[in-house]
Amino acid sequence: MPRVLRDTDIGEILVQADDLQHRVRELGAQISTDYADRDLLLIGVLKGAVFFLADLMREIEVPCEVDFMAVASYGSATESSGVVRILKDLDTPIEGRDVLIVEDIVDSGLTLQYLMRNLGARNPASLEVCALLTKPSRRKVELPIRFTGFEIPDRFAIGYGLDHAERYRNLPYVAALALDEGTGTADPPARESR
Ligand code: IMP
Ligand code: MG
Repeated sequence: MPRVLRDTDIGEILVQADDLQHRVRELGAQISTDYADRDLLLIGVLKGAVFFLADLMREIEVPCEVDFMAVASYGSATESSGVVRILKDLDTPIEGRDVLIVEDIVDSGLTLQYLMRNLGARNPASLEVCALLTKPSRRKVELPIRFTGFEIPDRFAIGYGLDHAERYRNLPYVAALALDEGTGTADPPARESR
């Protein structure tokens, strides 16, 4: 039975559930090939990436472990400043390990830039990024993103882990926030809570 969602905040679907599943399977296969015989540690960035990471990890067929970080970016409601505060650090050291950061979405790239610098300073054997979504038109800093799920337009996205004021993470697809439709600009909530 299809789920009935009457919430007027849910706008146009940007990525269907089937397409998410299919792409996650492809990414898992690619990662399994690239990380065969290595010491793979997935680092999920809380909270948004949890949903993607849980699906992705089950498509990875080589030994791997998982750890989490929680960060908050300072900034206005719409722009992240690049100044990031660690709310929860990793449980384990990453020196000598093959680290793959798993992110829900890369917008300006400033949060990820900070994370890469911070984790890079801990001397992992390798440090790469797997992002489910990117908004290339919003990018402020160029970053090497090894694995990308989907490029989406400059719309505020919700669902499959992405929230608007902590809601809608449970949607099985990615949609645009309806309030954002037609304005051509992202209109996200405060950034503090990721
Ligand atoms: P950045 O530092 O500008 O790249 O922001 C990255 C973070 O902002 C992501 O990890 C998300 O938590 C949040 N974010 C950016 N764009 C969106 C969006 O469209 N929907 C929901 N969260 C977003
Ligand atoms: Mg968020």
